[in-house]
Amino acid sequence: MLKTETLDIEKIRGDFPILKRRVHGKKLVYLDNAATTQKPQAVIDALVDFYSRYNSNVHRSVHTLGEEATAAYESSREKAARFVGASAKDLVFVRGTTEATNLVRFSWGEKNVEKGDLLVTTLMEHHSNIVPWQLLARSKGATLKFVGLQPDGTLDMGSYEELLKESPKLVAVTHCSNVLGTINDVSSICRKARDAGATTVVDGAQSVRHLPVDVGSVGSDFYAYSGHKMLGPTGIGALVAKKSLLSDMEPFQSGGEMIKEVFLDHSTWNDAPYKFEAGTVNIADAIGLGAAVDYLTSIGMDKVRDHEVHLLDYALETLPTVKGFRAYGPPGSSNRGGVISFNLADVHPHDLATILDEEGIAIRSGHHCAQPLMRWLDVAATSRVSFHVYNSYDDIDALKAGLEKAGAIFRI
Ligand SMILES: Cc1ncc(COP(=O)(O)O)c(C=O)c1O
Repeated sequence: MLKTETLDIEKIRGDFPILKRRVHGKKLVYLDNAATTQKPQAVIDALVDFYSRYNSNVHRSVHTLGEEATAAYESSREKAARFVGASAKDLVFVRGTTEATNLVRFSWGEKNVEKGDLLVTTLMEHHSNIVPWQLLARSKGATLKFVGLQPDGTLDMGSYEELLKESPKLVAVTHCSNVLGTINDVSSICRKARDAGATTVVDGAQSVRHLPVDVGSVGSDFYAYSGHKMLGPTGIGALVAKKSLLSDMEPFQSGGEMIKEVFLDHSTWNDAPYKFEAGTVNIADAIGLGAAVDYLTSIGMDKVRDHEVHLLDYALETLPTVKGFRAYGPPGSSNRGGVISFNLADVHPHDLATILDEEGIAIRSGHHCAQPLMRWLDVAATSRVSFHVYNSYDDIDALKAGLEKAGAIFRI
């Protein structure tokens, strides 16, 4: 297969200082991007610049530093919103996707879900798109049901249609699975949910980092993503929802900044999105997320996806030639994000990850916070590799050599 480079990988790799380091004396091959991505110098510089030049709290102080910090924080909100086709007033800064689903659980769920209601999610979800709904169902006396999967790791739309006949109150689905890589047709899922009267939550943790995303076309009520999976800092992410929906919801956390007026016996709330950003917010990391958006935009998300498709095609052709290699999820790259979960014969994924680490190759092993999916796959754990802009064909060749070495050690 031709190794067509669609990005200037050498230049991009030069933007990521961490890629210069060696691990066990070997070149670092970082293939754990679904867990978190590395950060370009531009993001690191944005953090250093904030703390060394204009560190100050936001939305409070009228001094120069305070105004500069507020302007940078709000400019990042605009960038983070524009990146997914939304408007800044519709974007709440949160810690990440997990905090976003929990915000929906408390602020929307506690007000809108009632005893006897049905909540729907799917068998391929990350725990952060299951456990909040379990807890919501428990506190409200509602029921949680799961859309099943087909053998190729795509959603069983037949089982989804059946659940819609029960008029669910909520449908929560991932845009892209962090284990199978499956890219779900969230536009169609959300349209059908809306027709059935359900509110929709889309988990974009793995999609915003891989694909050009437009929340308008997705058509969900809530869309969540994490900055650290798209070259930004940890501790910052976004919940995107129409301001009218946010305005109707209860506060999430309470305290400073989320209020309009406080009296001794009651308080009134600030406008959305500020109503959901109580206390001192994560200013530096929000600004870092803005820098990550600038960096990805300068490459172009179409090109990011194109690069990933090339790597996926190469990996899905090359890796199965290793004896004992078995991948999970859709067979091709067309409906798969840059993620491949696999097992190598019956080698425990942790053992495999340890052997690969000796070669400088970082992969993830475990249940990937998706235990119901592991049970469906009938495995305790899998190994997982996942790509981003700095990964190359050489990385996949190094992985293949590492897998062959592990195969020889375990006499596969
Ligand atoms: C699909 C998916 N959803 C949600 C999350 C949770 O994201 P965070 O840990 O950034 O809150 C992850 C993280 O791995 C994920 O892959």
